[in-house]
Amino acid sequence: MKRYFVAPGRINVIGEHTDYNEGFVLPVAIDKYVLLSVEKTSGSRITLSSMGREPVSFDESRIEKTGDWSDYLKGVLWVLKDQLGTEFGGMNIEIHSNLPEGAGLSSSAAVEVAMIVALNSSFNLKLDETELYKYAQMAENEFVGVKCGVMDQFAAVMGKKDKAIFLDTLEMRYEYVPLELGDYTFLVFDSKVHHSLSRGGYNTRREEARKALEILGKSSYRDVSMVDLFPNRARLGELYYRRALHVVSENMRVLESVKIMSNSNFENLGRLLIQSHESLALDYEVSCDETDFIVNTLKEMKGVSGARMIGAGFGGSVLALCEREEEKKIVEVMKTRYKERFGMDLDSYEVRTSDGAREVDSSFSL
Ligand code: GLA
Repeated sequence: MKRYFVAPGRINVIGEHTDYNEGFVLPVAIDKYVLLSVEKTSGSRITLSSMGREPVSFDESRIEKTGDWSDYLKGVLWVLKDQLGTEFGGMNIEIHSNLPEGAGLSSSAAVEVAMIVALNSSFNLKLDETELYKYAQMAENEFVGVKCGVMDQFAAVMGKKDKAIFLDTLEMRYEYVPLELGDYTFLVFDSKVHHSLSRGGYNTRREEARKALEILGKSSYRDVSMVDLFPNRARLGELYYRRALHVVSENMRVLESVKIMSNSNFENLGRLLIQSHESLALDYEVSCDETDFIVNTLKEMKGVSGARMIGAGFGGSVLALCEREEEKKIVEVMKTRYKERFGMDLDSYEVRTSDGAREVDSSFSL
């Protein structure tokens, strides 16, 4: 019998490159998904297929990294074998997705989470929510080799319709924040740029942020505030100073945003998004010409409260907070300008919220 599971992508309202620095994040699961089907077969061969790509097939006892799309799925098998000693036997696993890859919407975490939720159910592994997102993150950290934080896998498991999730990644405490945008809406602009730098760049930033903390003589960013940074500027040197400045200031912006969202002051939230983008572009240096152009163009437009790059960066998407009334015009102008400037089509869509990963029936359509 074939069973079907979905896991959502996410946007992140604010709190970028803070999750692996024991900071705060504010992600929202969205209505773009990875849909995964699993069917047990006799024998011990596992076959993975994905949207017209060459299927990958291997014996369940030999899980090896191949440096392609299948690693996200294999990583989960590998972690479960390593942690629980699960024997899977033969399986056909197929994925479909309407979540653009490399767009900063966390398609890799959605694949990992869809896989772990499917295996959890199919093999009655009895993993709780915490184990689901932790093991999915472990697959990416230890098998795929990207030292990502926990935000994406957490959002794909814990997402809730009409809510953002305010997560403290130090304590792993979270709170659902109602996402009532009223006359406003979140739009995503996908630059369609995916710089090859992203994986290496991500791990490098993580290392730099850690080094800055070490120079400051602290063991957690939660013990660092602005007043610790300024006097240590020379000791840190410009690069480490700016990396730490981003982390500390971004955490403050997340706390401020949570307050603002509960009293629906969207103009002020927009201002924080722009400050976040500037900090990511200038201090953390994870933006690029394309996403800078989108944000800089948007922020001059009527009806836009704010915008910023989301996700790891080095390309990917921009999230914009806009007045619903102006949406059509904003999208039209943005597409024209982007085409003129880069000769590329800009994708854009309105974001709707979603629940986290779950089993669905075979009629589920993407
Ligand atoms: C990627 C990672 C997350 C997080 C963001 C940046 O999406 O998977 O853990 O670090 O980048 O905020």
